[in-house]
Amino acid sequence: MAHMIIAGKACQAISGQTLEVRSPVDGLVFEHIPRGDAKDIDAAVRAARAALSGEWGNLSATERGRLMMKLSFLVTEHAEELALLEARDTGKPMTTARNDMVVLARYFEFFGGAADKVHGEVIPFLNGYQVNLLREPLGVTAHIIPWNYPAQMMGRSIAPALAMGNAVVVKPAEDACLSCLRIAELALLAGFPAGALNIVSGIGEEAGAALANHPDINFISFTGSNEVGVLIQQAAAKHAVKCTLELGGKSPHLVFEDANLELAATTVVRGIIQNTGQTCTAGSRLLVQQSIYDRFVALVAEKFKQVRVGTPEMNLDCGPVVNPSQQQRVNRFIEQAKAAGYPVLAQGQIDPGVPAAGYYVTPTLFGHVPNDSPLAQQEVFGPVLAAMSFTDEAHAIALANGTDYGLLAAVWSENGGTQQRVAKALKCGQVFINSFGAGGGVELPFGGVKRSGHGREKGFLALEEMSTTKTVVQFHG
Ligand code: NAI
Ligand code: MG
Repeated sequence: MAHMIIAGKACQAISGQTLEVRSPVDGLVFEHIPRGDAKDIDAAVRAARAALSGEWGNLSATERGRLMMKLSFLVTEHAEELALLEARDTGKPMTTARNDMVVLARYFEFFGGAADKVHGEVIPFLNGYQVNLLREPLGVTAHIIPWNYPAQMMGRSIAPALAMGNAVVVKPAEDACLSCLRIAELALLAGFPAGALNIVSGIGEEAGAALANHPDINFISFTGSNEVGVLIQQAAAKHAVKCTLELGGKSPHLVFEDANLELAATTVVRGIIQNTGQTCTAGSRLLVQQSIYDRFVALVAEKFKQVRVGTPEMNLDCGPVVNPSQQQRVNRFIEQAKAAGYPVLAQGQIDPGVPAAGYYVTPTLFGHVPNDSPLAQQEVFGPVLAAMSFTDEAHAIALANGTDYGLLAAVWSENGGTQQRVAKALKCGQVFINSFGAGGGVELPFGGVKRSGHGREKGFLALEEMSTTKTVVQFHG
């Protein structure tokens, strides 16, 4: 039985209730987690508030950074255990799960190292005055984590918050949170004072809503669906607290006729099948210049046919998706696109050895998808790629910007002018030129525009998001 951490102690839900944890690999229950609710959230927020005026709040920035470094080492030491847990919980291939733990350790390393390198400012003002701009923690920060990369997302969200001296309350996703609960345990082992890092497992509508609506939090970091993102912002508005929303995307590749087609094709396939397409930054639209459309999509199709789906132990390209409702969602998009008559250019294959009750889907590449269709406009969150053609640069940009989302985009061209003009014209938070990364490394500011959300995570901008300033004006004559 997994447990939550509140006020430095492992605990069960006050109600005593639990939730079953099913593995997407075979649909079987293999663990139980506490079903925390408003009462547990309240206890966690109180513990965090107390920590700010206690031992945690009194640590120097260097000491906070050292604790984070220690946590980073512990994550690395326990990486295989965490990866096995993550793979069982989410279904992802072991290689992906192992890589996730490398990134998790990096979050604590990068932000731990940054903790004592965030300086305030001295502002020139009237003669006889000294003006200092201090950078201070926001207070109690709330972190609502999704299930696609539970460990990585928790690291991304809490590392900058802890670095700035906030006390955090985490509500991980009910669909996959075992690694998150374990990370909180490791934080205690690393020596984080009681209440600095609290975690309450439970259902979104119960524990999640209670946390977002709690009157004594100072910030909410949310990654997940658009629908819930809107609820989070409404909850934040009630108590006038700031929030960052990361709500996914419909990220396009723009492939121009002068591109390195081999490199582009390999990267395009990887960018949609990674984590079985359950990635906010999945490259789910493929825009190809008309003159090379047939040739390029044939190249992509050839690679796409090689995609294999299996259990974490089989360690193929994709695992199952997280739950039956995501499986139905992905299959519905595929069926609707087929019914609409878009040609299936290629499909991956599910290994015949996978358990029948697992939540597996068939990776599918569609061609000639109109940009106003549901497949081109809505986030599938599965390994489904929609290809379409464009005539020239202006057309490519119009298609790329022609969705409600704006998270990532990739420009494939060998022409420096094309690269720069297109990168500047794209409405999104990150642009990759002749490459594509799921949000890039921990160093690179990341986040969306339009319905993809707002606020920046990763890099030094995350430290700004998760802190506030105080302007101190002194008259010294
Ligand atoms: P969701 O938005 O319901 O879940 C994300 C997190 O929000 C979970 O921790 C959940 O417990 C919490 N949550 C749910 N309802 C809440 C509420 N009323 N108040 C506070 N917290 C709440 O996402 P869901 O339903 O699991 O997936 C649906 C779709 O959302 C996916 O198909 C995908 O398109 C998108 N999604 C995007 C993610 C991203 O990385 N941008 C991650 C997960 C989902
Ligand atoms: Mg939901």
